[in-house]
Amino acid sequence: MTPEQQALFDAAVAAQAKSYSPYSKFKVGAAIRTTNGTIYAGCNIENAAYPQGTCAEASAIAMMVSAGEREIAEVLTVCDGDLLGTCCGGCRQKLREFAPLSTLIHACGPEGVRRTFTLDELLPFSFGPEHLGV
Ligand code: THU
Repeated sequence: MTPEQQALFDAAVAAQAKSYSPYSKFKVGAAIRTTNGTIYAGCNIENAAYPQGTCAEASAIAMMVSAGEREIAEVLTVCDGDLLGTCCGGCRQKLREFAPLSTLIHACGPEGVRRTFTLDELLPFSFGPEHLGV
């Protein structure tokens, strides 16, 4: 892992530890590095009204945008278990709003990076702001 990725991983693991997931018991952490080098992290936050829960990636995006930033440079997620944990479909679209298609997204387990994708690989033929002229 590069030092930059290690910093993202550490931030995501720290956020994962704060996950509020009493229903699924599936803790997820996400970290975003923006183009100016700042890292924003978030965890999944579940709700007794299940659909109201928030994914870790959405939490990290909320932190980033609330801090006044909008340009994603790199993303890393971490979850437990043996299976490769990648961003859900909804989060891929949420990332698409603020990340170029070439953005690297690292899917991690507790031991480190398991696989790296570009956003374009995870969300091919996608719809984005430019379709609406933004
Ligand atoms: N989850 C995430 O936080 N990110 C994903 O991309 C996949 C799923 C969360 C949502 C829910 O709290 C738990 O994992 C089980 O689905």
